[in-house]
Order: sequence, then C-alpha cells, then structure tokens
Amino acid sequence: MIEDIEKILITEQQIEDMVQTLAQQVSEDYKHKNLMLLCVLKGSVVFAADLMRHITIPCSIDFMAVSSYGSTTSSSGVVRILKDLETDISDKDILIVEDIIDSGLTLNYLKELLLARNPKSVKICAILNKKARRKINIEADYNGYEIPDEFAVGYGLDYAEKYRNLPFVGVLKPEIYQK
Ligand code: IMP
Ligand code: MG
Repeated sequence: MIEDIEKILITEQQIEDMVQTLAQQVSEDYKHKNLMLLCVLKGSVVFAADLMRHITIPCSIDFMAVSSYGSTTSSSGVVRILKDLETDISDKDILIVEDIIDSGLTLNYLKELLLARNPKSVKICAILNKKARRKINIEADYNGYEIPDEFAVGYGLDYAEKYRNLPFVGVLKPEIYQK
C-alpha cells in the first residue's frame, strides 16, 4: 500500500496536532449547546472517531452517507443520499464532520438539506481543504489543513475504496490511477 504513495502531504503527527486543536475549539464553543457530530460516511469516519475522542463535553453522533464520486478522481456534481440520519435533529446543534472540502458541492447540498429540518444550528468541521477547486461559495467553520490541488488518499480518503486506512495524507503515484 505504502509503495503506491508518491509523497506525504500531512504527517500523522500533524493530523494529531490539528485534531487536538479543533477538538479544543469545539469543546469550548459547544459548552452550553446540544452537540451532535454528523459523520459523513465513509471518508470522515477516521477523523470523526479521532475528533470525538478529544472532545471533552457531552456529544452524540449520527451518520449519513452521500455519494458525489464514483471511483474516478473528479466530482460528478451529483449528490445522492445513500443513508439518512436516524435521529430527529430539531433540538440539536449539528456539527458536520468532513474529511475534505473539494468542490464544496456535497457539503452545500448537505447543509441545505439539514437546515430544512430546522436544527438549532449547523456548522462544518473539515480536516482538509482544497480551496483551489471550489465550485460554490462554502467554507468550514472549523478548518484543518489546506492541501494543494492533487488527488489525496489516506486518513479516510480513498481511491476506489483503497488507502482509507493510511495514518497520513498522501498523493498516489500517477501510474496507480492511470492503470
Ligand atoms: P466535493 O463535493 O467536491 O467537495 O467532494 C467531497 C467529497 O469528495 C469528499 O468527502 C471526499 O469523499 C471526496 N474527495 C474530494 N477530494 C478528494 C481527494 O483528493 N481524495 C479522495 N477523495 C476526495
Ligand atoms: Mg470518496
């Protein structure tokens, strides 16, 4: 697996430091709120698990699965809901936990959909940001690392469902996705 990686963008230590920083901010900001983490499957599962462990206030978690990518490396712009929330969110302060904001299309769609259900609030926490690729004006309220316009894998991010379990964020060798 590691032999398919051309270079590392964010190290395991950098991720750990950022998770700690973000969790501290969230714990402070949501002290008097009813925090629910919304983990967007599947990519965010690694980040959500780490973030949750570092949050020091009570919080719940629920999951949604949406799809905007096939096994290619560019956004289709089409968002499908594959799995919806199991809970009523009208009394919740929702924090959407995302692996990466790329075009922003997925997140924009998701945020609108959630707002229509009248939760107390909806904010976004994303560990990675590819600002150069934005197609719509949306930013995370809690932002991790900015990465260049390259297809990244690891720390939850996949290429054709592979590499999610790498503990760092890296870039694949071109021959892997040119195959
Ligand atoms: P967006 O709608 O273009 O912002 O896409 C968001 C989703 O696309 C993320 O949650 C990821 O699952 C996926 N994605 C975006 N960029 C990358 C990447 O560089 N590597 C792997 N998956 C990515
Ligand atoms: Mg994906």
